[in-house]
Amino acid sequence: MADSKTAKLLINNAEFELPVLTPTVGPEVLDIRKLYGQADVFTYDPGFTSTASCDSTITYIDGDAGELWYRGYPIDQLAAKSHYLEVCYLLLYGELPTADQLHDFESRVTRHTMVHEQMHYFFRGFRRDSHPMATMVGVVGAMSAFYHDSTDIGDPWQREVAAIRLIAKLPTIAAMAYKYSIGQPFVYPKNELDYASNFLHMCFSVPAETYHVDPALARAMDRIFTLHADHEQNASTSTVRLAGSSGANPFACIAAGIACLWGPAHGGANQAALEMLREIGTVDNIPEYIAKAKDKNDPFKLMGFGHRVYKNFDPRAKVMKESADEVLDLLGVHNNPTLQVAKELEKIALEDEYFIEKKLYPNVDFYSGIILEAMGFPTSMFTPIFALSRTVGWIAQWKEMIGDPQNKIGRPRQLYIGSLKRDYIDIETR
Ligand code: ACO
Repeated sequence: MADSKTAKLLINNAEFELPVLTPTVGPEVLDIRKLYGQADVFTYDPGFTSTASCDSTITYIDGDAGELWYRGYPIDQLAAKSHYLEVCYLLLYGELPTADQLHDFESRVTRHTMVHEQMHYFFRGFRRDSHPMATMVGVVGAMSAFYHDSTDIGDPWQREVAAIRLIAKLPTIAAMAYKYSIGQPFVYPKNELDYASNFLHMCFSVPAETYHVDPALARAMDRIFTLHADHEQNASTSTVRLAGSSGANPFACIAAGIACLWGPAHGGANQAALEMLREIGTVDNIPEYIAKAKDKNDPFKLMGFGHRVYKNFDPRAKVMKESADEVLDLLGVHNNPTLQVAKELEKIALEDEYFIEKKLYPNVDFYSGIILEAMGFPTSMFTPIFALSRTVGWIAQWKEMIGDPQNKIGRPRQLYIGSLKRDYIDIETR
């Protein structure tokens, strides 16, 4: 990665040399680690728009080309040919598994799908009308109180067990959060089912009836998991890394990631996007909402549109759009008004000067809600489904960081613009 190339920085006539790091692909990176020590200056980059926070071998995005690779494999190939647990293996261990490796991995994950029975009582502390994301933040954080034998981050075996537990149990926890919110009994995992079918079964079956998972819907669910599995150093992943950099245990770190994901500018956008499409209601109302999105004095934004890195189509949105058509067809839903509004909104926005100039395209969240709603999920479950899919990415990135000998606690600096030092004034004289 490092080579002999350098950049020169001139500050008040003093010259400093900065090493230039060359990635496998993508822009070169100025190494400023020694800058403060040598030049007594900080760099300023709120929102990390130009700052690489780590090196990583896991995921690569070319935002201009609209490309996303997991360990070098393009997302559209993985979405078409692979499946979620194979992708989990790839993200965690760096290579596609052989048949034996995959079989072993699947059986390890499958054997960890149940949660500690005491956790059922933990759920009961929540109000029934809690948002499932609120429940997930609490319950995943509480995993560190239930699984003490996998919280020693210095032990590679415990790190591995924590990774498997998180991937295996997140669907169970998300399904439990859903069942709790609708007042139905929890459904135990069924290990004869594959990962996606098991999740659908835990969400939609009830003890009173037999529930058969439609294999085509399970495939669509699995594809949603795959498309969300990792996305390099996004806000929630950076949150997981920052929490983990202090040595916090993996369950606490993933709970921090879930909290960050919840925001509407990040994973919460899938819920917000569907709510927006419903609010728009009919194609006739689209121009009014486009005008609102363009109005500087209106805080409204087109949810599911725009991205910090993609300045072209989000490749996940393309797959998601095709999947939406397939799933609605499969379910016999024709002329779905929300899908019609979404497609027309996309068309109008992509021809509009404002969106063209700012390079705003649909992101992964624009179409995912339509599929999830058609499958029977309420909007409040959209972000928990994103969270369970992204858990593998968070844990792969966390493991990469913990295993990196260069790992240090993350501790940004600031540009202080507050008061100068001043003396305390007694209350009577203020
Ligand atoms: N609708 C209208 N205008 C937008 C939108 C949008 N969805 N997104 C960005 N813009 C405008 C901004 O107002 C800004 O305009 P300006 O230059 O005149 O001030 C310009 O485009 C650049 O946008 P920023 O907000 O500066 O871009 P940033 O990279 O900080 O934000 C973000 C990216 C948060 C995704 C933003 O596009 C957004 O809020 N989108 C809607 C929410 C959303 O869909 N989030 C999901 C992201 S994907 C994910 O997390 C899975």
